[in-house]
Amino acid sequence: MNVLFPPAGPLRGSLRVPADKSISHRAALLAAMASEPVRVRNYLPAADTRSTLAAIGDLGVLVEERDDELVIRGCGMRNPQPPPGAIDVGNAGTLMRLLPGWLAGQPGLDYVLDGDASIRRRPVDRIAEPLERMGARIEARDGRFPPFTVHGAHLEGMTYELPVASAQVKSCLLLAGLMTPATTIIEPVPARDHTERMLLAAGAPVRRAERLQGGYETTVGGTDELELDLVEVPGDLSSAAFLITAGILVPDSRLLLERVGVNWTRAGFLRIVERMGAIVLGELEAPGTLSAHEPVADLDVSSAPIEGTVVEADEVPLAIDELPLVALLGCFAEGETVVRGAGELRVKESDRIATVVEGLRGLGADIEATPDGFAVRGTGRLRGGRLDAHGDHRLALLGAVAGLASEEGVEVVGMDAAAVSYPDFEADVTALSA
Ligand code: S3P
Repeated sequence: MNVLFPPAGPLRGSLRVPADKSISHRAALLAAMASEPVRVRNYLPAADTRSTLAAIGDLGVLVEERDDELVIRGCGMRNPQPPPGAIDVGNAGTLMRLLPGWLAGQPGLDYVLDGDASIRRRPVDRIAEPLERMGARIEARDGRFPPFTVHGAHLEGMTYELPVASAQVKSCLLLAGLMTPATTIIEPVPARDHTERMLLAAGAPVRRAERLQGGYETTVGGTDELELDLVEVPGDLSSAAFLITAGILVPDSRLLLERVGVNWTRAGFLRIVERMGAIVLGELEAPGTLSAHEPVADLDVSSAPIEGTVVEADEVPLAIDELPLVALLGCFAEGETVVRGAGELRVKESDRIATVVEGLRGLGADIEATPDGFAVRGTGRLRGGRLDAHGDHRLALLGAVAGLASEEGVEVVGMDAAAVSYPDFEADVTALSA
């Protein structure tokens, strides 16, 4: 489906952005591992997070959709039943990398995971290697791609230093660690910590310490039971980032984005845009209303002139999914914007260094790819044209925002990809334009 996003007039109004995708996946998975029913409010109703509900359903979990919440009746830590065929993860990398952590700890049981064409290009060796160290066996196509089989086992604890700053790998191993006496994961550079926070809320023994050398060391102990009761999912900062960017770039805009999750391990983008000179004010909600230890704020965004900035490697994991938007902002900034140390972008839903650079260049941007990032020379404007989403939701949404801020509009080829995380984007833009 191709959709034209013409240049927008001022965007104004308040809005609730879609629920957090990362936290929704985790809520469903931890609820699946719990013995008592868990209620989840504001679960993200999008393609990726539906894949997670279908996957846990395949394993024998009951999911009841009520008006304003899900009730998930899990099967306990030890009882996920292997379905006869493959578990379909769809397009969801987070599901593909987290779920095996739980399944790997099921002795004598085998599970096959598979997904769409994009998932089949995304590596799983990053979880297979450490899970095998713990005692499980993983058989993957060509040793590193889906489909793959998880052969569950009695797992042993370990201390493991993450070779890539990946919250998905960390989370996978923390889930596996719940089925060992103790497992310690060292992250030299911190990545999002939603799993740690939710495990704490579920009563799991989790200890997190800052290291003198930098980064964190997180230890989980063995546990027989997770207990969550109620999780309320905050708004997704990664989805909000598209509207924040539109609000900054479209002159005379003023937006209030309500109840957005602002956990500091996710909020790197807010720090980057602030450095570029944009105005985003956040009002934190009272701690009493926090959910699964996630801080929530209303974000007040105004349009502003911006200047270029440099994003270095240690900042990358804290803003990984928003880096395409940093490239777009860079087009409108004064001076140069550079992102370094972001090679991980090459193994997302598309090779996001290649697709962002090719996409924005086609709209008139002065941008170059580097092996681990990109450099943009700001021209203060973007002509517009056509941008191919390459089946990647964040590319589709990037093209849409580029259109709103452009001179001639942008036709997004394959806008339907946005359904993975932000199905109602067009409707939200229409509401803010009215
Ligand atoms: C995610 C972690 C990140 C991010 C992805 C969601 C998560 O991936 O890009 O969209 O929910 O843990 P990596 O852990 O591979 O960096």
